[in-house]
Amino acid sequence: MGIQFERRLPVAPRPSTFVDHVPFGRKLTEIAGTLIMLCQSVLIALPAVLIAVMKRPSLLLDRQQRRRIAFGSIWRYFGPSIDDLYRPYKTELLAMAEGVVIDIGSGTGQNLKYLSHDKITRLVLIEFNSTMYPALTRSAIDAGFEGKFEILGFGAEDAHRIKKTTGLTPGSVDTVISVLALCGIPQSQEVIDSLYEYLKPGGQFLFFEHCASPHEPTLFWQRLINPIWTLVMDGCELDRPTGDMIINHEWTEAQVWRLPIESRFSLSPKEVGFARK
Ligand SMILES: C[S@@+](CC[C@H](N)C(=O)[O-])C[C@H]1O[C@@H](n2cnc3c(N)ncnc32)[C@H](O)[C@@H]1O
Repeated sequence: MGIQFERRLPVAPRPSTFVDHVPFGRKLTEIAGTLIMLCQSVLIALPAVLIAVMKRPSLLLDRQQRRRIAFGSIWRYFGPSIDDLYRPYKTELLAMAEGVVIDIGSGTGQNLKYLSHDKITRLVLIEFNSTMYPALTRSAIDAGFEGKFEILGFGAEDAHRIKKTTGLTPGSVDTVISVLALCGIPQSQEVIDSLYEYLKPGGQFLFFEHCASPHEPTLFWQRLINPIWTLVMDGCELDRPTGDMIINHEWTEAQVWRLPIESRFSLSPKEVGFARK
């Protein structure tokens, strides 16, 4: 499955450009790109937070909600272009979802259009940032899930509430999806463990995550930039080995692919994978 999956991807390897021929060109471009994205994010988030505070001054006392408002505005800005860039991979991966599905960190729901609604009987969307809900609800309806989806407004780490709210029990879920979500969940290993428990034997964990780079010099830069990145991006971490954390679980089958369009200097290298219980 794994190799075929990769071969079938309708994307050519990243063509080299003049930057690749300049000494340190690609490395500097990737670092500068990340720093520029950080600065843009601050510029996008500040007015959104200011407007929200003017409308509701009590937000001054609620740091967590201010961070969510900030990240909501950042994700609404960057999310669509990130989605476009990785569309072919997501199309391939997410078409595998079936049965009872849990999607963690659903955001604005931009991945829902890749799901086959006729193969999915129930869609549980776990997203704790309420600023995402209008777009998330619209995406779910547009993707054909009206009457089949529910949004859980708390953290994916809250296994007890997931059980209480949905009635789902360990061993009752066919598919878990995590797209660019585990990077921002503080207890991500516990969340992976508990989602594993929710999966049926034969159930699948589909993931598309940015991860710690296997390339030491790039990992150095990820670690250096991480504190400010985490602050701006509502807890997202650049240097978390999410792919390894998932794969190290006890699966009967698991595959992870690095994307051919990304350079080894990428500060947010993606790992796309599939694991079966
Ligand atoms: C980078 S966005 C990705 C959204 C979506 N998966 C996508 O690919 O478009 C990460 C999302 O995870 C959500 N998130 C972060 N920590 C979470 C947690 N502990 N539980 C549930 N959602 C969480 C954030 O609010 C955000 O919407």
